[in-house]
Amino acid sequence: MSKKRIGVLTSGGDCPGLNAVLRGIYCASEEMGWEVLGFRDGFEGMLPEGGDTMPLTRENTAGIMQVGGTILGTTNKGHFTSKIGGGDKAMIPEEVIGKASKTCRDLNLSAVIAIGGDGSMSTALQLYRAGFPMIGVPKTIDNDLEATAMTFGFDSAVACVTDALDRLHTTAASHKRAIIVQVMGRHAGWIALWGGIAGAADVILIPEIPFSLEKVAEVVQRRDASGFKSTMIVVAEGARTRHGQQFRRQSSSGEWRLGGVGEMLAKEVEARSGKETRVCVLGHLQRGGDPTTLDRILGTRFGVKAVQLAKEERFGTMVSYQNYEVLDVPIADAVHRLKRVPPSSQLVETARAVGISFGD
Ligand code: F6P
Repeated sequence: MSKKRIGVLTSGGDCPGLNAVLRGIYCASEEMGWEVLGFRDGFEGMLPEGGDTMPLTRENTAGIMQVGGTILGTTNKGHFTSKIGGGDKAMIPEEVIGKASKTCRDLNLSAVIAIGGDGSMSTALQLYRAGFPMIGVPKTIDNDLEATAMTFGFDSAVACVTDALDRLHTTAASHKRAIIVQVMGRHAGWIALWGGIAGAADVILIPEIPFSLEKVAEVVQRRDASGFKSTMIVVAEGARTRHGQQFRRQSSSGEWRLGGVGEMLAKEVEARSGKETRVCVLGHLQRGGDPTTLDRILGTRFGVKAVQLAKEERFGTMVSYQNYEVLDVPIADAVHRLKRVPPSSQLVETARAVGISFGD
């Protein structure tokens, strides 16, 4: 009898912890005598005749848990894109579904585990509804996926922001400057909020709480007057002004990406407060490097749980972290909207209680 075989892919923006999930999947499958085939570059790997695959083995999964990125490669664009920007949906073309379906049949896959964020889970859901045996694993530094308390990758990104703020505080204090630190997170402020609190920011600006430039400048001036000569401002890339303005840039490939809010703030805060201001855009540093302990453990638990779901043939479900347990939810519950920071949540209140301004 031939061995049972499952497929796995990593899709969307990479993040620390992807390799921990792949290793978890390989180890749990090996225990059951199953084979694991990895698709290269996300869902795209399903398109070439016979699939663009690489088997996961003891050798190629050894020592990868602590390494960032993904050994399978990934893409956040391509033929399967089913969500564009903050929620606009697009259907995967029938022809693309047909090719992917033939690949899964040819490879005799009993399950396909898709590791990805909001867009990738939408793709997985469409494929599940088209008859694919899909299981989802929630990944993103943005932590903006519904139906799970946390995605892996988030903790590592927050650790990066915290470390950056620790470093920037000393130079800001020496030069008596304001420093704006622009962080990722798309339309959610989780990275800015967690990183800002852990890194002792004075101001945190998030998409969920529109800010006023005057208020931000006032904080800088007030701190100056009370003897604190430097100010640390964390701004999420998707933060909006009170007038609803969000900042975007066109990439070289013509796509629109969030960006530019930090530069605008630096100019405006300096003009309004008279304080010398610098900007630091952390960018993809937040997606690189080694996963934290939490992300290694979460990734391993997610990988093992995904294999259990494959064994139980619980297709159309996504692994989910709730109250310290790894459970499962329908993928559909994770993609109907983004999980954003509730403006009156306890964490926002905690930040306010320690004197952090949200510029509102
Ligand atoms: O979703 C993860 C993320 O890092 C966002 O925080 C950011 O807006 C986006 O991806 C950047 O994408 P790219 O790698 O295409 O520049």
